[in-house]
Amino acid sequence: MATENMNRLEDPIDVMPLMHKAFRAVSDRTEEMASKASTLEDIEELNQAFGFWVKQILYHATVEDEVMTGPLKDGQPVRDNETEHADLAGKAGELAEFIAKGPGAGLAESVRDAAFTLEDEQHKELEDRFHEVEAALHQVLGDKKVTARTIRHIHSRVMGVRILELDHFENEEAFVCSLVRDEIDEAGQLYMVRRLLIDDSAEDPRWIIDWVHSELDEADQALLKDLEVRFEGAVAQPA
Ligand SMILES: [Fe+2]
Ligand SMILES: [Fe+2]
Repeated sequence: MATENMNRLEDPIDVMPLMHKAFRAVSDRTEEMASKASTLEDIEELNQAFGFWVKQILYHATVEDEVMTGPLKDGQPVRDNETEHADLAGKAGELAEFIAKGPGAGLAESVRDAAFTLEDEQHKELEDRFHEVEAALHQVLGDKKVTARTIRHIHSRVMGVRILELDHFENEEAFVCSLVRDEIDEAGQLYMVRRLLIDDSAEDPRWIIDWVHSELDEADQALLKDLEVRFEGAVAQPA
C-alpha cells in the first residue's frame, strides 16, 4: 500500500486493490439497477451497464492470466522449506496461513500451485456466470416481455456474480498479489500493471485506466496518476 509518501504506491502491484475498487463500484451500481428494474427499458439499461462490467472483467482476467499468473507459474523459483502437500485448491484459509508467514517463509510448490489453481478456477467460474447473466438478459430483450419473476431471477444472478467477484478479489489480493510483490521486480510489475491498465490493441488504449480513474476518490486518483508516470517512464520493458 502507500508508504510514508501518501502519493505513491510502494509496489506497482498495489494498484490491484484500486482496480478492484473500481470493479466494486460498477458492480454495486449494476446490482442496484437490477434490484430496481421493472420495465423492458430498465432491462435494456441494465444490459448496457452489465455489458460494460463484463467487458472490463473479461479483459482484466485475461490479462492477469497472461502477464501475472502465467509468468509466476513459469518462473517456479526454487523454494526450500514447507512440506505441506495437500491439495489446497479452494481452501483459502490454509493458503492464508502460508501467506501470513511473510516473504521469508517461502511457499511450497504445492501451495503456489493451489494459489494459481484457485485463481484459474475462479476466473473460469466468473466468466461462465457472467455469460449466464448476459444470456438471461438477452433472452428477456429478445422476448420483449418482462415479468416480476424474470427480474427477480436476473437480480439474484447479478448478486451471485457480484459475490463471486468479491471473493475472487479477496483471494487474489491475499495470495497472488503477495507472490507478485515477493517475486517480480519493479520493472516486471510496471510492465504487468501497464498491460492491465492500457490496452494497446484498442482504438482507445485508455478505456480501462480512464474508467478506473473515474471510479476512484481523489487520493486514489493521485496514486494512479503517479503510477502511470512510473510505468510510462520505465525504460526497459520485457517484450
Ligand atoms: Fe485482479
Ligand atoms: Fe483475477
